[in-house]
Order: sequence, then C-alpha cells, then structure tokens
Amino acid sequence: MQVIKTVKDLQAAVAAYKKDGVSIGLVPTMGALHEGHGSLISAARKENDAVIVSVFVNPTQFGPTEDLDAYPRTLDADCEMAQALGADIVFAPSAREMYPSDDDTWVEVTGSITAVLCGRSRPTHFRGVTTVVSKLFLLAQPDRAYFGQKDAQQAEVLKRMVKDLFFPLELVVLPIVREADGLAKSSRNVYLSAEERKAALVLSRSLAGAAARFDAGERSGAALAQEVREQIEAEPLATIDYVEYYALPGLTEAAEPLTGDTLLAVAVRFGTTRLIDNVILEGNK
Ligand code: PAF
Repeated sequence: MQVIKTVKDLQAAVAAYKKDGVSIGLVPTMGALHEGHGSLISAARKENDAVIVSVFVNPTQFGPTEDLDAYPRTLDADCEMAQALGADIVFAPSAREMYPSDDDTWVEVTGSITAVLCGRSRPTHFRGVTTVVSKLFLLAQPDRAYFGQKDAQQAEVLKRMVKDLFFPLELVVLPIVREADGLAKSSRNVYLSAEERKAALVLSRSLAGAAARFDAGERSGAALAQEVREQIEAEPLATIDYVEYYALPGLTEAAEPLTGDTLLAVAVRFGTTRLIDNVILEGNK
C-alpha cells in the first residue's frame, strides 16, 4: 500500500490506473478510522480493482468554535487498518495541498437540504463537505465512492451534488455500524467520559424504540419524534440540538401520516461532544 501526500502524486497514480482500465473505489474519511470506516473500505475492496482511502481532517467543514484542533489524528493506525483491509492507496494531504489558494472556490448545495438538521446549527458545514468531496472526486476519479448512513444528511447532500454536477460515479451508502451496546461508531466517541458514553446510549435506544413503534403501525412522525425527544430529555447529561424527521430522498418536509421513507434523526450534546444518530423508517414496510 502506498501513502500519498501530494495532489501531483495522486494524479499520477490515478492516471496509471485509468490507463490500465482499473476501476477505482474511493473511501473519503477524516481519519481516526473505526469499524464504520472499515465496512466502507471492505465494500470498496470487494467492488473495485483499486481502493483509495483519503485521510484528511477538512478544516472548511468545521465552524469557528468546533473541534478542528482537537479532532483525533491517528495516521499511522489509519494506514495500518486501511492496509489490513486491502486498500491500495492512502491519500493523506496537508491542508495547504488541498486548499492551495485558501478558500476562493466553493462547491455548495443550497436550499432546504443543507439548511435543516445539522445545517441549522452548522451553517457552513456542508459547503465544506461538498467542496472537499468534489476535490477528492476530481482527483481520484472513482467509479464508486463510499459513505456511511450515520451521516445521513451528508449522504443526501452528496447524492444531490453528484446528480446536479454529473459526477460519473456511483455513490454507495452503507448502514450504520454500532458498538455491541448500540452506540453508533464515531471518531468523536473517544471524547466521551465513561458517564457520558453510558448516557449516550439513549440515542440508539430511543431511535430503536421509535422504529419498533413505526413497524407496529404508528404513522405519526410527530408522535414518534416526541417519544424520542422525551426519552432523551429524561437523560440529565444530554442536551438536544434536534430531534426531527424528514422525507427521503431529499429531506423535504414529511407529510402526516408518514407514507414513504422517512429519516428520523437526532443531534445531542453530551458535555462538549455532539453526537448524531438516525434511523430510516421504511414506508413500504
Ligand atoms: O464523513 C466524513 O468523514 C467527512 O465529512 C468527509 C466525507 C470525509 C469529508 O471531509
């Protein structure tokens, strides 16, 4: 496995792949790899001739008061894991390499899809994500790119970007990977104290409860969201950012009673750590 740090070297490697007709799977990450990323790399390994994993803590998707400096950086361990899972290249550029002219050029998906949920409390976040992912798509020229369902809004925004900008690739979204006790795997889980980690189980527990009620026939999105909200509010260490539901695809307002697929999503702070989790309520069930 090669570790590539410059745009020029990645472009050369990709040009060689393209010349040989090699299909490319790209797994964009910010590093601190865990089993959630592992599932993406393994899928990319199965479905493509070559696998590129990018490891880049993208400064433009962090707000001024967010955890850019504290975000875990574990490149050696990330490379070990990527190699063990069969990646061919880890692309780990510097910020200057990815943003050679500071922040003059942006790719932005506008409208309610980026304004709701995390877009409300992190107004510049998705613009940073779509900009860096566009750069990665243009550099790696993947046939397939892999993302996790935990970042459900990110996946919807990226699907819209791929469609609108005619990126010639398949965007693959894979299910949330959870700890044995239900906590969604996240690079930010390392910030949690033992008490906060225990308290954070309310997220998966309340969402699973809502999904079970939906499966049993409850079709009021408001009632399901309220039930989740009440359970989280009963947890003293939790501070709710949002508990909301939107229609899929596209995150438009969900009509009541729920008919099609609906995303029920939460963002909650435990101390200074903001966690997100979600469940898809499948309308055809
Ligand atoms: O999901 C992430 O880790 C990041 O938002 C991504 C897609 C790698 C862009 O920096």
